[in-house]
Parts: sequence; structure tokens; C-alpha cells
Amino acid sequence: MKQSIMIALSKGRILKETLPLLKQAGIEPTEDLNSRKLIFPTNHSHINLLIVRATDVPTYVEYGAADLGVSGKDVLLEHGSQALYEPLDLKIAQCKLMTAGPVGREPRPGRLKVATKFVNIAKRYYAEQGKQVDIIKLYGSMELAPLVGLADKIIDVVDTGNTLRANGLEPQELIAHISSRLVVNKAAMKVKHHELKEIIDGLKQAVLNTS
Ligand code: ATP
Ligand code: PRP
Ligand code: MG
Repeated sequence: MKQSIMIALSKGRILKETLPLLKQAGIEPTEDLNSRKLIFPTNHSHINLLIVRATDVPTYVEYGAADLGVSGKDVLLEHGSQALYEPLDLKIAQCKLMTAGPVGREPRPGRLKVATKFVNIAKRYYAEQGKQVDIIKLYGSMELAPLVGLADKIIDVVDTGNTLRANGLEPQELIAHISSRLVVNKAAMKVKHHELKEIIDGLKQAVLNTS
């Protein structure tokens, strides 16, 4: 009998880009993922998929409610957990974590105001430079903040740059290259080693075949 395995994914691009990799690893959901359900069976009776918010994936895996998860490196850096293994770069949902601000605006005298949902990353980034800034926590649509005087700059992920451009902003400093990672609960890695290794190896091969 195989031990049961729960895999945490988030709706949107992670789900969309992880499903083909899981499929190559021989794992496919057997129910319509667009339903309102949150736990989905797969073609392997011991493997289930859990659909959670992107920022909640590390939490589910850290506490062992999920054994495996797929999470953006931005989310992992912000979550800051040492309690997770990160055995594989899935090379999906690639983007850059950057500072951005209004095109051509001169720096204002006084303390810089930075709006972001990545508060911990922002604090670390400016502390490393010895800069005193005010960090303003937002939960989305950061691009709006400089347009309405809430902040001077933002920290967000940038891919094509279209969202910045559409709002009169430009990318400035690169903080980190981002892609999604497979994360694994440390205790589960010991207790369910056989089942997890099988899935991790399958995904490793899928990433190699894809790139
Ligand atoms: P939520 O919708 O729950 O607030 P979210 O916006 O972070 O969360 P997604 O937009 O699905 O959720 O992003 C998931 C991950 O994909 C992010 O953590 C990041 O690593 C990456 N990502 C975000 N935006 C882009 C983008 N425009 N292009 C490529 N990758 C991206
Ligand atoms: C993400 C991110 C940026 C945008 C960057 O938003 O928060 O706004 O993508 O991508 P671009 O450089 O290609 O424009 P997303 O599309 O995930 O929308 P969201 O606000 O629902 O998270
Ligand atoms: Mg998003």
C-alpha cells in the first residue's frame, strides 16, 4: 500500500503550467479542476491535489497538510521558511522581482515610500543598502500606488513589462530572478520517501524534457 500524498497548487498560472509537467510525470487529475471543489483526485489513488491561494502554498507544506507544493520563488522569499526542502526549479512562471517607479520622475527629498505585497523582501532589500524607507503593504494592483501618490515606488514581479508601461511606470532595480519551485515538507520527505522520490524524479525528468 502506498502512503497518501497531497500536492498543493494555486489557481492561475501555476496550475496551468504545472499540470503539463505532472502529466509528463504520469499524474493527471480525474475531475474538472474548474469546479468549486478544493481537493481533487488523480489517476493515482494515493495522490490528491489541493488548490489553495499562491501565498498559502508554503504554509500548507510547512505544516505538513500538503506533502508537496509548487510555489513562486517570490512567495518563498517572502515566506522565508527554513522548514521546506526546495529540490527542484520547475522553470515555469518565470519573471523578475523588481523595483519600479514613474517614468522620468526625479527622486523626492525625504524618506522613500515603497508599496508592495512583498514586505519582508522589501525590508531586507533596503536594509542591505542601509536605506531607510517606509514600506506600505498592499495585497495587489501595486502599480496604482505611485499614480495616486500613495508611494514613490513599488516592488512587484515583472514579465513583459506591459502592466508597468500601461500605467506610466518603468522597471528600475532587479531584486531577483523568479521561477516556480517544487517545495517538500521535511518530515514527509523522511516518512514518505519512496512515494515522494517517485514524484520528484518524474517531475525532474519532465523539466529536463521541457527545457
Ligand atoms: P493571488 O492571485 O492569489 O493574489 P498571485 O497573483 O501571486 O496570487 P499568480 O498571479 O498566479 O498568483 O502568480 C503565481 C506566481 O507566478 C507568482 O508567485 C510569481 O512567481 C509568478 N508570476 C506572477 N506574475 C507573473 C507574470 N506576469 N509572469 C510570469 N510569472 C508570474
Ligand atoms: C502580475 C504582476 C504584474 C504583472 C506583470 O499580475 O502582479 O501586475 O503580472 O506582468 P507583465 O510584466 O507581463 O505585465 P497578474 O497578471 O498575476 O494579475 P494579478 O493582479 O491578478 O495578480
Ligand atoms: Mg498575480
